[in-house]
Amino acid sequence: MAKVNSQVSRFDAKSTNRDDELAQTSVLLGKKSIVIPDDFAAPIEGPAKVISVVNQKGGVGKTTTTINLGAALAELGRRVLLVDFDSQASMTIGLGIKPFENEQYNSIWYLLNDPSADIHDAILKSNVPGMDFIRGHEDMAAAEAKFVSEIAKEHKLRKLLAPLMNEYDVILIDCSPSLGTLTVNALTASAGVIIPMECEYFAIHGLALVKSTIQTIKENTNPALKIDGILATRFDRKTAHSREVLELIATQFPDEVFDTIIARTIRFSESTSQGEPITTFASSSVGAMSYRRLARELIARGGSK
Ligand SMILES: Nc1ncnc2c1ncn2[C@@H]1O[C@H](COP(=O)(O)OP(=O)(O)OP(=O)(O)O)[C@@H](O)[C@H]1O
Ligand SMILES: [Mg+2]
Repeated sequence: MAKVNSQVSRFDAKSTNRDDELAQTSVLLGKKSIVIPDDFAAPIEGPAKVISVVNQKGGVGKTTTTINLGAALAELGRRVLLVDFDSQASMTIGLGIKPFENEQYNSIWYLLNDPSADIHDAILKSNVPGMDFIRGHEDMAAAEAKFVSEIAKEHKLRKLLAPLMNEYDVILIDCSPSLGTLTVNALTASAGVIIPMECEYFAIHGLALVKSTIQTIKENTNPALKIDGILATRFDRKTAHSREVLELIATQFPDEVFDTIIARTIRFSESTSQGEPITTFASSSVGAMSYRRLARELIARGGSK
C-alpha cells in the first residue's frame, strides 16, 4: 500500500518502533500485544466521517483527545476539521485562541443561530497543516433554553455541517460534559462516537449512561450511529485500581475498548497552555506517540477514513 507522503512514513516508523513503550490494554491484561498497521493509503473518496467525542463526566480527556487525535490524523494525510461544541470553549483555547479575543471569527454558536451565515467563513487554521477548526463560544450555555421549542432541533448541527462533508475526511466534535441538547445534536450529526474515560470506579456507571443515550439517539434521530471505541485516558500505570477498572470495562465491552491507552502525563496540560497539540509541542513524547497510535488504530478499525 502506498504511503500518503514522506512525513507520514517518518512519524509512523517512529511510532511503530516505540509502540512497546506505550500502555496497551492487551498487554496490561496479560494478553499478546496487538500490532497496528502503520502503512495506510490515502483516505478513500466520499463524505467526511463525523465523530463525536462524548462523556457526560467532566475532565476525562474529551478536549485533549479531540485536539490530539485530530492532529495525529492530519499527520496521516487526513483533512481534519475540529468543532468546539462546548460553552467552556476549552478546545478553542487549547488551539491558541484566547477567550473573548478574536470574536470576529464566527463561532459555531453564531452559525447555529443564523441560518444565512456561511460556515466557510467560520473555519480557522490550526498550527497543524491539514487541521482546521471552528471555535466555540460561552453563550452556547444558553442552548437548552434557546432551542427548546424548535422543530427538529436535534438536527441543527447535522444540517450546518452538510456543506463541508466533501471538503474533509474527518470531522471531530468536542462535546460538553452533559448529555443535553448540544450533545444530542452532535450525536445526531455523527457516524461514530469515541468515549474517553478515566479508569476509576464511578466511571463504569457513567459509561452505562452514555451508552443508553447512544441507544436513544439510534432509536430516534440517527439509526446508523456506532461506538468507535472507549478510550482509557489519564491512565495511571502505577495503581492496581486503574488496571482493575480497565479489566472490568474490557470484560464488559471487549470489542469497544481501544487497545491504545493514554497514560497520565503533565505534558498535556503544558501543551494546552501553549495553545498547541502535544504532537507539535512535544512531538516525540509518549503522549504524542499514544495519540498517533490511536489514530492508526481508529483507521484500522474502520472508524476513520
Ligand atoms: N492523559 C492525560 N494525562 C494528564 N493530564 C491530562 C491527560 N488528558 C487530559 N489531561 C488534563 O486533564 C484536564 C482535563 O482534560 P480535558 O479538558 O481534555 O477533559 P474534558 O473531558 O474535555 O473536560 P470537560 O468535561 O470539562 O470538557 C486538562 O487539564 C488536561 O490537560
Ligand atoms: Mg472539554
